[in-house]
Amino acid sequence: MPAAPVPVSTVSARTLPAPIRPGPLTALAPMQDVTDLPFMRVIAHYGAPDYFFTEFFRVHAQSRPEKHIVRSLVENQTGRPIFAQLIGEQIPDMVRTVRDLLQYPLAGIDLNMGCPAPKIYKKNVGGGLLRDPAKIDSLLGALRDAVPGLFTVKMRIGFDSTENYERVLQLINQHGVDLLSVHGRTVKEGYRSEVHYDFIGHAARTVRCPVLANGNVASAAVAQSVLTQTGAAGVMIGRHAIRNPWIFRQTREHLADEPVFVPTLADVRGYIEHLYRETKQPGLPEAVHVAKMKKYLNFVGQSVDPAGAFLYDMRRAMTEAELFAVCDRHLLGEPTKRFASEPYPGVIARPNCETPNESCSLDTITA
Ligand SMILES: Cc1cc2nc3c(=O)[nH]c(=O)nc-3n(C[C@H](O)[C@H](O)[C@H](O)COP(=O)(O)O)c2cc1C
Repeated sequence: MPAAPVPVSTVSARTLPAPIRPGPLTALAPMQDVTDLPFMRVIAHYGAPDYFFTEFFRVHAQSRPEKHIVRSLVENQTGRPIFAQLIGEQIPDMVRTVRDLLQYPLAGIDLNMGCPAPKIYKKNVGGGLLRDPAKIDSLLGALRDAVPGLFTVKMRIGFDSTENYERVLQLINQHGVDLLSVHGRTVKEGYRSEVHYDFIGHAARTVRCPVLANGNVASAAVAQSVLTQTGAAGVMIGRHAIRNPWIFRQTREHLADEPVFVPTLADVRGYIEHLYRETKQPGLPEAVHVAKMKKYLNFVGQSVDPAGAFLYDMRRAMTEAELFAVCDRHLLGEPTKRFASEPYPGVIARPNCETPNESCSLDTITA
């Protein structure tokens, strides 16, 4: 279905954009090298979340907003509002970038206080900021002054411990942050430890703004249980939306006690082809695009079969024809078979390669 026109910038208003339906909020988590314009368009096609976030704009003395990320704002065809995420620490550079970005149609400015890649946190940005509440204090103050509309933060619960968590939550209140997304792990816990939903619950009770609970929200049923457990205003979903683009629609249906859409393997074959076509850049060699597709399919494959046979074969495909032959064999053999709503136990995206991750990208992050 074609997306409705984008609600343009609400950047001078401090009210969160209305959700698609009254009730808990949903958001697609920002993901570097993933949540670009084509990917967000694909997600919107299968059932948009209430909010989108861009991958992060990297901010430093020489930076200018990356053109391909600006495109996500300017050409947003999802029909839903999009927040622009920044990663950086130097106040003059951050404020200059905010001013540059405010000319575009965006819902608000989001600060990244969670990226766990050593290359990033060693520069004291992203998750590295969580070691330094005094710096967070001055940065939040400067950004709050610079952003006339919605200013949001996405954070983890600490760097290598949660000792600064309470203080950071106080700063979130003190500086009038409008929406807080909490990934319930410390930076050092990476992406695969258990998620500390009790800490997200604590944030939801402590801060005055709505909180989005993030981390391992694998299905509509998990979304409901995380909302109950944390009292959060909504959920933010990342890797499980790559695996299952229907997850936002399913969550809305589940929360409204309506029948929940159950995709078949044939629907998944359609999603893969759609993703392939939408994300193919003109002029990009086929082998490079096939390699990129495998990074998405690492997640999709977790719900295709319990033995991981699709993943095994998919990883060996080198060409478009080979890739789609694998898809046909595994997804059209029993086309009406259901796509599992959660990953099959033990079928992980790519074993043993989580750390050390040098960037927040699909090359290094698994589920
Ligand atoms: C490939 C990838 C890239 C990511 N890039 C970003 C990013 O640019 N900004 C950010 O705040 N978090 C980033 N994250 C973290 C996610 O937003 C999210 O917090 C994390 O994946 C946990 O949620 P999930 O279990 O729903 O995936 C990234 C995660 C992945 C998997």
